[in-house]
Amino acid sequence: MARLGALLCLRFAVVVALVPSLLSTVAVAHNDTAVHKNYLIIVRTPYAYDQNVYTTVSSWHASLLASVCDMAKEELEHDPGAATRLIYSYRNVVNGFCARVTREEVFEMAKKDWFVKAIPEKTYKLMTTYTPRLIGLTGPAGTRGGVWNRTRNMGEGMIIGVLDDGIAAGHPSFDDAGMAPPPHKWKGRCDFNSTVCNNKLIGARSFYESARWKWRGIDDPVLPVNESAHGTHTSSTAAGNFVPGANAMGNGIGTASGMAPRAHLALYQVCFQDKGCDRDDILAAMDDAVDEGVDVLSISLGDDEAGEFAADPVALGGYTAMMRGVFVSTSAGNNGPGPSTVSNEAPWLLTVAASTTDRKFVVTMKLGNGVELDGEALYQPPNFPNTQWPLIEDTRGDGTCSDERLMKKVHVAGKLVVCHQGGNITGLEKGSYLHKSGAAGMVLVGPEFMGSVLQPKPHILPVAQIAYKVGKKLKSYMKSTKTPTAALIYKGTEFGNRTSMTPAVAPFSSRGPSKQNQGIIKPDIAGPGVNIIAGVPGPQGLSTPPNPLAAKFDIMSGTSMSAPHLSGIAALIKKAHPKWSPAAIKSAMMTTADTMDRRRKPITDQDGNKADLFAMGAGQINPAKAMNPGLVYNLSASDYVPFLCALGYSDHEVNSIIHPAPPVKCKKLPFIEQKDLNYPSITVFLDRKPYTVNVSRAVTNVGRGKAVYKAEVEMPKTVSVTVTPDTLRFKKVNQVKKFTLTISGAKGRMKDGAVAEGHLKWVSPDNVVRSPIVVSAKKFIKDNSTTAHHARH
Ligand SMILES: *[C@@H]1O[C@H](CO)[C@@H](O)[C@H](O)[C@H]1NC(C)=O
Ligand SMILES: *[C@@H]1O[C@H](CO)[C@@H](O)[C@H](O)[C@H]1NC(C)=O
Ligand SMILES: *[C@@H]1O[C@H](CO)[C@@H](O)[C@H](O)[C@H]1NC(C)=O
Ligand SMILES: *[C@@H]1O[C@H](CO)[C@@H](O)[C@H](O)[C@H]1NC(C)=O
Ligand SMILES: *[C@@H]1O[C@H](CO)[C@@H](O)[C@H](O)[C@H]1NC(C)=O
Ligand SMILES: *[C@@H]1O[C@H](CO)[C@@H](O)[C@H](O)[C@H]1NC(C)=O
Ligand SMILES: *[C@@H]1O[C@H](CO)[C@@H](O)[C@H](O)[C@H]1NC(C)=O
Ligand SMILES: *[C@@H]1O[C@H](CO)[C@@H](O)[C@H](O)[C@H]1NC(C)=O
Ligand SMILES: *[C@@H]1O[C@H](CO)[C@@H](O)[C@H](O)[C@H]1NC(C)=O
Repeated sequence: MARLGALLCLRFAVVVALVPSLLSTVAVAHNDTAVHKNYLIIVRTPYAYDQNVYTTVSSWHASLLASVCDMAKEELEHDPGAATRLIYSYRNVVNGFCARVTREEVFEMAKKDWFVKAIPEKTYKLMTTYTPRLIGLTGPAGTRGGVWNRTRNMGEGMIIGVLDDGIAAGHPSFDDAGMAPPPHKWKGRCDFNSTVCNNKLIGARSFYESARWKWRGIDDPVLPVNESAHGTHTSSTAAGNFVPGANAMGNGIGTASGMAPRAHLALYQVCFQDKGCDRDDILAAMDDAVDEGVDVLSISLGDDEAGEFAADPVALGGYTAMMRGVFVSTSAGNNGPGPSTVSNEAPWLLTVAASTTDRKFVVTMKLGNGVELDGEALYQPPNFPNTQWPLIEDTRGDGTCSDERLMKKVHVAGKLVVCHQGGNITGLEKGSYLHKSGAAGMVLVGPEFMGSVLQPKPHILPVAQIAYKVGKKLKSYMKSTKTPTAALIYKGTEFGNRTSMTPAVAPFSSRGPSKQNQGIIKPDIAGPGVNIIAGVPGPQGLSTPPNPLAAKFDIMSGTSMSAPHLSGIAALIKKAHPKWSPAAIKSAMMTTADTMDRRRKPITDQDGNKADLFAMGAGQINPAKAMNPGLVYNLSASDYVPFLCALGYSDHEVNSIIHPAPPVKCKKLPFIEQKDLNYPSITVFLDRKPYTVNVSRAVTNVGRGKAVYKAEVEMPKTVSVTVTPDTLRFKKVNQVKKFTLTISGAKGRMKDGAVAEGHLKWVSPDNVVRSPIVVSAKKFIKDNSTTAHHARH
């Protein structure tokens, strides 16, 4: 991708004759913002630039644009923006360019034989001290831990590219103590000064050429430090250096570090606070990142509505990245727990759900009747007295304490005020005015959909955050007596409670089934994403940090937090196995994931119900096992091509996605159904006679030379599964063995709407290679694919 400050649309355009029918519409063209919009223009493959005629791909794109640009002279005279009409000229991610054009110009373009599609601009959203220990990177070597120690691998020499908002360069997490210089292949650059660019932060660039047309005030951001809470958090989670004594509000004290503390970081700014992330800036960043030499891309942004792969920047850029061997880890989205809310669902991406950790900032409410209720509090005031305070609630308003005026009529001084989360002000604001009015403290009741999951925030007065169900218990106690009272007992940070239901899938974590490819289970896997402590530029919310380091770390939750955990772990795996494809790394993560929680019971959701495969994918990441999976389900880039054809994408769309791979004609390719893509999970629909489906897979031996694996299937009785052959004997490393699963309803047709979940395991004395299986009586989403979709084009 090249930035084109002075492109000569004007010069080409003046020779173009006026088209009379357009004159009426160009009369309004004086206001550039109103008339010109950013479009991604997809060029038909195999149209490609002729190197004998054009020196660069951008001069070719410029000539294409010039052939339609500015049909009207009047418009030209009034359009100072014409010189920068070509915003980005892409080299890698798509065959096309981003330009500012009018609707009329789009109509003109549509007549050209090089033109496929003009996609209007679109905005995407951005969706520790303790997690390295939680998931077993530190500590003594063993199957559950010690990855850093045992393998002497902290991601040395790996480069993780992070697409996000800015980064707080100079933050202690980005210190380069102990870091070697970047490898020679690195071609990127760091736009901060040389004090803060170092061997840790080796790349930092801002992509805003498209955004600046859309949003005022983004003229020359050059990585502003104050746009960077999110990007600092995600970057330090993936590859932050060790920072002893990190904490959030004095809690969770320990050494903070990313998952790959010796990996290098390259930050690509594509998002702006309160605004979002522009699609074409995202594409431009990915276009450059693959050329600059990143090993892993960490993408904690996406769309609320999962979009078609042919128009989605993460899917488009992700394909090219995967082709170049770059592993792409993305967030599943924060629109759960409803079904089909997952985004970033292309099969060449890793789609990461968020789970809870077993770290709690415990506060116990001791009620007047002696009953104890547990909650959490990030601010744990030292020496807080065990006094029984009178309890009151917001009875005049809606219970959320949002209406300060009404609450003024209540005498809150010296009392504990019970407020529901919600209303039109934040919990911090509620705490703030209650504190001013002399309240002893606040009890903040979480929303019902969050179940037992709490997200403690820093408050300035003593607070207990409690779950909705616990709130109900509190309310019934308050009704039972005329003088309800409670004491708040702060117990500090609790780790590793073996009776706790963790990890559990976070309520907000987006769920499958996937809309774009329902035959692939998405999300793929879960990683820590609730109450994650990582680096931030400065104190968030309240500005009374108990010590200077506390101001540099804060708690955030989201699949934005879980995706960079997996990015860092991908860097460790890639460091250990430099020749593995992105699909092999993903397979290693998925087939070794944990399905049991701390209690050794199945992983649950926020309500304590068993989490289904559409919530957690293959399960919770277990890095120690992922380093040595035994077998992998491998895929090469070309394997996705017939898959895309079978999904119903037209030749143009397929060629646009797989660019710069040579163009294909779907008709000439074998037909690969979704179920037969060599993915580490399996989905089948028994929606037609004979209610039997064959599924083909192949596994590659990446363990020691000789190995024998036996198939084991765990499946409800409603479904019968046979594996042929049921024993795989490998003689050497990298040997590939094929097998078939025959899946059928035990009694023929399954009950309407029935969905059965289970697992296929390949078991050897050293490894268990587990694949989740979903069998459904019918399709989850009305089928758009194959015939129907083909007819559309
Ligand atoms: C141009 O149009 C946009 C959108 O209609 C409007 O917000 C802006 O104020 C206009 N600018 C000028 C200079 O008229
Ligand atoms: C590595 O293992 C040793 C001995 O078991 C332990 O003391 C040390 O803390 C471990 N290092 C890390 C980074 O976990
Ligand atoms: C370099 O940039 C950092 C962070 O933006 C700033 O704090 C520092 O003063 C700068 N140093 C120099 C020498 O300009
Ligand atoms: C960033 O900081 C500068 C200087 O402190 C300020 O002028 C600007 O408004 C800030 N931007 C945002 C988005 O907060
Ligand atoms: C919040 O809503 C209440 C009524 O529900 C209203 O009186 C109050 O002014 C609102 N506050 C803000 C800050 O909008
Ligand atoms: C562990 O959690 C359970 C249930 O939340 C609680 O009752 C118990 O006190 C905790 N144990 C420890 C050692 O904190
Ligand atoms: C997987 O396939 C890719 C592409 O064909 C190949 O380069 C790689 O060696 C294969 N095996 C593994 C373990 O990645
Ligand atoms: C599945 O494979 C078996 C053995 O190759 C074959 O006999 C059977 O017809 C296949 N069933 C379907 C539904 O394709
Ligand atoms: C199905 O096709 C229709 C039109 O052909 C389209 O609007 C819709 O988004 C498609 N749905 C899915 C899930 O792809």
